Amino acid sequence: MAMLLQRSRMSSSVLSTMSAPKCWLLRSRSRTTSESSEVTSENNNSRRSAAKRTSYGEGEFIDGFDFAKRKVMFYSQKEQIPVKVDALLKFSQQDPKSTLITSARFLNRELPIRLSQCLMEFYKLPYIIGCNPHFREVYKKYAEALNSLSEHAPVLTNEDQIAFSKTLENYLDDNMDVITMLAKGTKESSRYVPEGSDVLATFLRKIIQSRIGMRVLIENQIALNRQAELKTKSSKKAGVIGLAIDPKEVINKMTKITSRMCHNRYGRAPKVILKGHLDAKFSYVQPHLEYILQELLKNAMRASVEANPDFTVPLAPIRITLCKNDQDFIMRISDEGGGIDAETLPKCWQWSFTTVDDEAEPIGGGGGIGMLADQEPDGKLAGLGFGMPMTKMYCTYFGGSLNVQSMHNFGTDVYVRLKNLTLEAKDQPLG
Ligand SMILES: Nc1ncnc2c1ncn2[C@@H]1O[C@H](COP(=O)(O)OP(=O)(O)OP(=O)(O)O)[C@@H](O)[C@H]1O
Ligand SMILES: [Mg+2]
Repeated sequence: MAMLLQRSRMSSSVLSTMSAPKCWLLRSRSRTTSESSEVTSENNNSRRSAAKRTSYGEGEFIDGFDFAKRKVMFYSQKEQIPVKVDALLKFSQQDPKSTLITSARFLNRELPIRLSQCLMEFYKLPYIIGCNPHFREVYKKYAEALNSLSEHAPVLTNEDQIAFSKTLENYLDDNMDVITMLAKGTKESSRYVPEGSDVLATFLRKIIQSRIGMRVLIENQIALNRQAELKTKSSKKAGVIGLAIDPKEVINKMTKITSRMCHNRYGRAPKVILKGHLDAKFSYVQPHLEYILQELLKNAMRASVEANPDFTVPLAPIRITLCKNDQDFIMRISDEGGGIDAETLPKCWQWSFTTVDDEAEPIGGGGGIGMLADQEPDGKLAGLGFGMPMTKMYCTYFGGSLNVQSMHNFGTDVYVRLKNLTLEAKDQPLG
């Protein structure tokens, strides 16, 4: 996967970015004052050699995070145990008191492996891309999480299990902004990706896929703990999976949130009208459904308002058609926002592709952080260029799909198909 960077592409500003973080270029070791001149010359040599670098060697990326170095190597060699949806459902429907310790032990083993496999993905990046400060920040967070989880005392009692679940909650809090950092890193470094290379897209797909899987498992543990505290068995929830999600309610909730964002940005927002199987209920991870709706409604609302700049003309509503069958829950989200032209349509799936003008709306908090499903209700309406590819990853995660049909000069229809997560959904592994 070594990427050959053409030296001609490496401007002096790029080199200065690369030279800034000493810890990435120098082997970490303690230094005395008398070594300072050696440091300077070593640093200069490192800078020079950085210009020739193509990609990281194993372990090199983590200079400055030496504590994690051996751990990454050690855990990444181990094999992940895939979790299937039906197994998760069965397990989560048992009495949590009897399962919580088992699932905490499983996570205690499994998360360091998954984290270190993510960390390994950073080493495969071309050197100049790995130097991006936002990617390095994500790397640092993952390395710290690996350190904290792998050092955690073995889970033997329920008290240990509660303490471990607290560590997991802290992990979720600490990693709220990972998607925004990845988006910023992607935006800044995509110009260094040689034409035709999918190195960055592959990196993002792997990191984000794994992140979704880890968060489902962690949220499941946290949800099981909450369900255990309630002491009464819920018929509506099995850990993180909602057994009777009412899409109408979720759509109404996400419409309120996205309308507020749209109002804040444009001073008005289109109505959302529902039709079809309004009483449908299905089994799914609700925060995933919320994320999907949030991103698609944001896009539909933005398009609807931008296509109709005349405030005196009422906005055409967004229509959402709901459909439930034995296997799936399907939604069609239709807007009259002018559609997407044939040349732009395939680009919508590219990481970092956006038609938002950077100058007008500088990249900021973005609609891509926080909670299980990367929500940030008070974030921006658009601009990261992560909404469509991320939504596709969420839709396909449990075997569903996301498709777009555009009528350029009229509007867009987005089709979301989500698997009903029942015991029959046997073949769906979680990341
Ligand atoms: N319903 C739609 N109508 C018209 N254009 C759309 C629609 N949905 C997506 N697009 C186009 O696809 C582009 C990419 O969408 P995507 O959601 O990935 O990024 P974004 O909305 O620009 O930023 P963000 O990641 O913050 O959501 C948008 O900038 C827009 O040009
Ligand atoms: Mg968007």
